[in-house]
Amino acid sequence: MQEQQFIPSKSYQLPEKGEVKWESPSNIALVKYWGKYGEQLPKNSSISFTLSHCKTTTQLSYQKKNSSQKFSFEVYLDGNRTESFEPKIEKFFERIEKYLPFLKDYHFKIETQNSFPHSSGIASSASGMSALALCLLALERQANSVMTDDFFNQKASFLARLGSGSAARSIKGNLVVWGEHTAVNKSSNLYGVEFSDKVHEVFKNYQDTILLVDRGEKQVSSTVGHNLMYNHPFAEQRFLQANSNLEKILTVLQSGNLDEFIFIVEQEALSLHAMMMSSSPYFILMKPNTLEIINKIWEYRETHKSKICFTLDAGANVHVLYPENEKAKVLDFIKNQLVGYCQKGMYICDEVGFGAKPL
Ligand code: DP6
Repeated sequence: MQEQQFIPSKSYQLPEKGEVKWESPSNIALVKYWGKYGEQLPKNSSISFTLSHCKTTTQLSYQKKNSSQKFSFEVYLDGNRTESFEPKIEKFFERIEKYLPFLKDYHFKIETQNSFPHSSGIASSASGMSALALCLLALERQANSVMTDDFFNQKASFLARLGSGSAARSIKGNLVVWGEHTAVNKSSNLYGVEFSDKVHEVFKNYQDTILLVDRGEKQVSSTVGHNLMYNHPFAEQRFLQANSNLEKILTVLQSGNLDEFIFIVEQEALSLHAMMMSSSPYFILMKPNTLEIINKIWEYRETHKSKICFTLDAGANVHVLYPENEKAKVLDFIKNQLVGYCQKGMYICDEVGFGAKPL
């Protein structure tokens, strides 16, 4: 499917005013997206687990206005006007206007809340941008009643991607692939697709406990990091590695081979950070406690014959991944041995979820 298919073919009779509300989850990549081109297109395919408890809830109130000269909106986070978010939303609106041509006809009030603590270092762009994309598309859908669910989900992912690449993977399904790959039927660089082949039972309720190592502002944003993949000496090899890991992990997700799963997931996390450490300029997002935790996880895995592993996103926090049948023991291990490495002892227990929903 091409971009053009997301441009409405006729103008609709849109409502005068109203509101819509959606909640949308965060996701954690198993094979990482790092490097993009053109308008938010990925240099390699990625796949993520959708999370269940880490999510953004957004209410969009809309009211028709007289002039259609420019965008008009206000953003509230946890009930407080947050002007610092507005340039990012303005840019998002500019990118998606072609696909939602009514945007300048309305004044919008965007009220948003995250389930995870403010400045926890957990990226909110995936859940935040997907929730907003869903609300805006829900407005179009009110006038376009023939829009199918499949088209709605595809266009929501397409729009979300234009806000933040990883947001394309936060619409529907517990495992979502974004980026064209021969091994995944109907995969696309334009939007995420649910990995719908038979997934092994063990992955249906996989656990993700997020250890909050550093809750501060990141020194380098993801967008800057992605851009450093241009002219990166190892970029082409990295994209090949990710695409090859994606193919391998698809087999693992069906077979349930957890040793292979662990190997791919940890290699992906470390390769992502190796790219950061070898770019120009180079940077390190891991903290000493990130490494302490990784070593403790390796030690625990060895001594307890456990299937625990870790992954990282673009920050210092550690996502501890493990099968549900190890939950009690791993939580004990976290409480007894890892909490001391977390800022203020904070961690968040999450697990695989199914995607966004209207409220
Ligand atoms: C390390 O989606 O935050 O989490 O497209 O610039 O908004 P932008 O980047 P973003 O990058 C996420 C990078 C990652 C890996 C991943 O989620 O695949």
